[in-house]
Amino acid sequence: MTTSEQQRTGKPGTGTSTDDPAAAEAVYLDATRRLLEPLGVRAGDVVVDIGPGAGSATVALAQAVGEHGRVYAVDLDHSMLAATLAAAEQAGVAGRIRPIRHDIEDGTPPLPERADAVWSSWCVHHTRDWDAAARALLGLLRPGGVLCLAESGLPTRCLPWDTGIGRPGLEVRLDEAHDRHFTQWFFGRPGARRPTRGWAEILTAAGLSDVTAFTALVDIPAPLTSEVRAVVLAELAARVRRAGPFLTADDAAAWARLLDPAAPAWLGHRADLALLTARTGFRGRKPER
Ligand SMILES: C[S@@+](CC[C@H](N)C(=O)[O-])C[C@H]1O[C@@H](n2cnc3c(N)ncnc32)[C@H](O)[C@@H]1O
Repeated sequence: MTTSEQQRTGKPGTGTSTDDPAAAEAVYLDATRRLLEPLGVRAGDVVVDIGPGAGSATVALAQAVGEHGRVYAVDLDHSMLAATLAAAEQAGVAGRIRPIRHDIEDGTPPLPERADAVWSSWCVHHTRDWDAAARALLGLLRPGGVLCLAESGLPTRCLPWDTGIGRPGLEVRLDEAHDRHFTQWFFGRPGARRPTRGWAEILTAAGLSDVTAFTALVDIPAPLTSEVRAVVLAELAARVRRAGPFLTADDAAAWARLLDPAAPAWLGHRADLALLTARTGFRGRKPER
């Protein structure tokens, strides 16, 4: 992560993966909406979005709670809260949003009321102790309230197996290198605690009951629109940047050609780019007593 990214996100490695999170969230919004459904948000509810990013889910939740409900947007990064408010203003629901600047590594966010539902997507895995973060989020709920964590899913596939540049299988090796980057980043922080179990187990251990998982497929076939292609290219570039130290020299050279808009091999010239992935949400309920 560059210095400017660290300044933007407040903490190295915990922010959005591209410089245009709103564009990325727009591409995944359909899947996000499907993962929000099991929360069962109703008009008048009090809901919390932890780590809202550019605020697309916050806006969807604000629409679901209606004019008598509230959505608390909790983030450690001022600029993410500003982006969320801007998105809410554009959607005409800013009056239902309550921004709270808080780092969930410091415990349960200080809210003036208990929540009916808590949503958090691609945020908790940034924390050093996933069990502690799950307990902190549970502390926000009223008895009977529902928590949904959207974390994990399947690796993304965008490229054909053989692009004709470098050795076939580039994307699979990028996943592996990126995983090594994440592992190094995760455990490079003092106090990082090895999770050793899956999200459903983590939520159950935190005290939630009836924990289940839901998966939303993101299936955008080739040829991509210019908007989706721009997001795919930005996300690939961000992954290659982070995974760089773990790529072989040959793979790094192949990615440099594929991601260079001035190169004949630039991925942006191709009609066979697609976006196929799956996102999973883990939902549980706080026991009534
Ligand atoms: C990868 S973005 C995910 C944005 C959005 N929820 C989505 O699914 O696209 C992670 C978000 O979580 C926030 N975040 C990361 N660590 C956090 C922490 N410890 N406490 C509060 N917010 C955090 C970041 O600032 C950012 O807004």
